[in-house]
Amino acid sequence: MTARFGPGELSASFRSVFGTDPDGVWQAPGRVNLIGEHTDYNEGFVLPFAIDRTARVAVRLRPDSTIRLMSTFGNQGLTTADAGSLSRAAARGWTKYPLGVLWALQQRGLAVPGLDLLLASDVPRGAGLSSSHAIECAVVTAMNELAGGGLGVEDMVLVTQRAENDFVGAPTGIMDQSASLRGSSDHAVFLDCRDQSVELVPFDAEQAGLELLVIDTKVSHSHATGGYAARRVSCELGAEVLGVASLRSLSLGDLDEALGLLDEETFRRVRHVVTENDRVLQTVEALRSAGPRAIGPLLDASHGSMRDDFEISCPELDLAVEAARSAGALGARMTGGGFGGSAIALTPQGAARGVRDAVGRSFAAAGYAAPDIFSVRPAAGAMRVA
Ligand code: GLA
Repeated sequence: MTARFGPGELSASFRSVFGTDPDGVWQAPGRVNLIGEHTDYNEGFVLPFAIDRTARVAVRLRPDSTIRLMSTFGNQGLTTADAGSLSRAAARGWTKYPLGVLWALQQRGLAVPGLDLLLASDVPRGAGLSSSHAIECAVVTAMNELAGGGLGVEDMVLVTQRAENDFVGAPTGIMDQSASLRGSSDHAVFLDCRDQSVELVPFDAEQAGLELLVIDTKVSHSHATGGYAARRVSCELGAEVLGVASLRSLSLGDLDEALGLLDEETFRRVRHVVTENDRVLQTVEALRSAGPRAIGPLLDASHGSMRDDFEISCPELDLAVEAARSAGALGARMTGGGFGGSAIALTPQGAARGVRDAVGRSFAAAGYAAPDIFSVRPAAGAMRVA
């Protein structure tokens, strides 16, 4: 994570790197998923929110096809590419995200000109908070405006998904970019991933006397490899054997029959998705009728399902969740793709200090690296800021 670069500061840095003013500055946030994990690519329900950590890009279009990319972090220096021949092979580090978006825009038929781009971000990287989608959403928002893409939010979601799936190489769904593009302060984004229909659901933890803590375990995860893709394959297998287009079509009442048709492991994967979809609907209902205090048990149940049925947790995440709960959190779960990254803990304000201390102590006792613990609240989605 780098320190915050305000829009003015980023413009000034852009001038010193590229020698001219940018055409503008755009930002897009990372996200926390409140509930609904590994349901997006099963055409199910998710309930994420945008957080007040953002990626910002200062961009200026060029009259030629040269692309120059630079960030305020890392020591990678200037990366150059050509809009006429974008390829994954030429992309280094974070540059695969903007280059992926430019490539995906081209695949949609948009004429992408050359450009200079300077990136700053304070979304923690590798923490499961969608730092990559924050970059992609900032870039797609900027380019849609600068290059006249005329895309609506639904199309921008699909462009960034294409960038992730076919350029970056991560077989992810549409949750992260939907949160980043559609986020709104004090609201969670209730998204139906089958048709992208969306409702903003009030989620103001502070007003309810609560804090939503993020516990970054510092265990890094990678969605381009291994476990995430394997879970996706299991879900597809389950749907195929059960004769449905996606697991979204199943409800709790179908699980008994599924038990007899699926192998034991695939059954547990399917059960996670089906019960998790149901928990999202219950969480939305609880938020509407009773407010944030009512959702703790649903968060706990979601974690148990991910740990035991979907098997995407890890010892550090389990410990973070258990320690937070024992110290007074109303509910806690891992958030994001799993295998590392962050947990969230919904905590009464008066207990937040105790939860932080307890999680820190339990990590030290287990010999784990010290976690980063901070509180987040729902923030606005992608926008132009200068
Ligand atoms: C990652 C992916 C999302 C989603 C989550 C799991 O964040 O990018 O599309 O699948 O994992 O819910």
